[in-house]
Amino acid sequence: MNVDQTPYRTIWTADDGWRVRIIDQTRLPHEFVVLDLENVEQMAEAIQVMRVRGAPLIGASTAYGVALAMNVSPSDENLAAAIETLGRTRPTAVNLHWALGDMKDCLAPLAPDQRVEAAYRRAAEICDEDTEINRRIGEYALPLIEAAARDKKPGESVNVLTHCNAGWLATVDWGTATSPIYQAHDAGISVHVWVDETRPRNQGASLTAWELGHHGVPHTVIADNAGGHLMQKGEIDLCITGTDRTTATGDVANKIGTYLKALAAHDNGVPFYVALPSPTIDWTLRDGIAEIPIEERAESEVTEMTGRTADGAVETIRIVADGSPAANPAFDVTPARLVTGLVTERGIAEASREGLLELFPERR
Ligand code: MRU
Repeated sequence: MNVDQTPYRTIWTADDGWRVRIIDQTRLPHEFVVLDLENVEQMAEAIQVMRVRGAPLIGASTAYGVALAMNVSPSDENLAAAIETLGRTRPTAVNLHWALGDMKDCLAPLAPDQRVEAAYRRAAEICDEDTEINRRIGEYALPLIEAAARDKKPGESVNVLTHCNAGWLATVDWGTATSPIYQAHDAGISVHVWVDETRPRNQGASLTAWELGHHGVPHTVIADNAGGHLMQKGEIDLCITGTDRTTATGDVANKIGTYLKALAAHDNGVPFYVALPSPTIDWTLRDGIAEIPIEERAESEVTEMTGRTADGAVETIRIVADGSPAANPAFDVTPARLVTGLVTERGIAEASREGLLELFPERR
């Protein structure tokens, strides 16, 4: 996607061919900062503190983290240590473990002197695959927006609600939930996005709004609590979110608050779609609520907020009474029964084991 007329992906290699460049998402929307990462420890830190985040980008970053480790030393011990270090960073997005498994399968059989080149090549392929998957997710979901547009009076927009950032910044390119939105906008369909602020880290307000704005897509940021009211008033035609891990039965883990939006959508007859790249499916799990590990993050993400003051300085302030403890579960699980459809790179599946297996018969 373009940032001030310059095309960017969210992760790429520097001109030297080995350092890995990322956009530091903790600095957005106030500053656009590109960082050069030189070793696996720096990549692990970037994933943990969410300089890079979003399930598909976590997968791509993990792959490049392994490549950086191989560049330092391509030994068996260093490969195992890199997998261990990266594997501990974030527990919910299954793309991290998918990418580690993929890189291990690719590198472990090779002689150490072949591993550096193979690791960078495979990481670059994972990035290209992610981009293509997301483009196709957009193609499959575009008719949903087109159908909603046909019911509109002249001058009215299709109103899509999204939660968190399942946009370009959460992937290598396109985004998952935003891919059909960008494709609809580019095709001349009038589309407007209700952007959930997404407390506590505000990925909607800070990231989704920023990237939609840079692409010229009309949008409005709302407090997380506003979605139900807007649905009751007929102001939302459909919801599209991303996911960090979806079970083989169609239960969806995504950013905390997604479940409440799905409940409100169900109660109001608003279609609730989840954009699901296949590396985000955890084929080993059947019961999302019981089995998906939910990341617990620092209290400070709830008790503090960061923003820009009138004089342009970026500052962090405390918003909770001194002494009050806070809890910070980062994801929740939306049961399959509340999901209208799972939009994959192979088409739209019913959120069920049979629905997913119809599109992925090799998993039977
Ligand atoms: O904690 P984050 O910002 O990594 O959470 C991101 C989400 O919940 C996204 O919706 C999900 O990763 C899908 S991204 C295409």
